[in-house]
Amino acid sequence: MKINVLITKEQLEKKTVELAEAITRDYEGKELVLVGVLKGGFIFLSDLARKIRMNVAIDFISVSSYGNSTESMGVVKIIKDVDTDVVGKHVLIVEDIIDTGLTLNYLKDLFNTKGCASVKLAAILDKPERRKVDIKVDYPGIKIPDKFVVGYGLDYAGNYRNLPDVCVIEEM
Ligand code: IMP
Ligand code: MG
Repeated sequence: MKINVLITKEQLEKKTVELAEAITRDYEGKELVLVGVLKGGFIFLSDLARKIRMNVAIDFISVSSYGNSTESMGVVKIIKDVDTDVVGKHVLIVEDIIDTGLTLNYLKDLFNTKGCASVKLAAILDKPERRKVDIKVDYPGIKIPDKFVVGYGLDYAGNYRNLPDVCVIEEM
């Protein structure tokens, strides 16, 4: 197994600071709920939350997409919904990566039916070549080529989420 670094932890940190500053500016004085998408979003959410300079509430939603481990099929199953009452609150969905866009598209529609004041999206990584739906990420992260990556929350069959950098598995 050969693992190569694609995006360093320093690049991830720099982008996270930029996004946190924009979020602080945009939501100052508002009630913001960060909704982390489990499991992949947990590391980005924990870094982002600590760089936002205002109070936020934090909750998680757990989803799984039907299909095999590396290909999203667009049908999203909610394993665990948020416990927080999000009616009238500003929700920011925090994801590890936007790939086809189907997951974030589904989640945005879901929160729009819950009566939130607003629903926006943040994702630390973006594979633009793979997009299947036209969806705007309000707080976009770092663009990467169409390669399967692990680390910084992202897994391969449940492993490698704890790698501090975003890496590509070159040889299985
Ligand atoms: P989408 O619905 O196709 O945008 O897929 C988003 C989800 O697919 C992410 O939340 C990840 O869990 C997973 N995913 C997409 N690309 C990768 C990758 O390169 N490595 C690991 N997981 C990925
Ligand atoms: Mg995910």
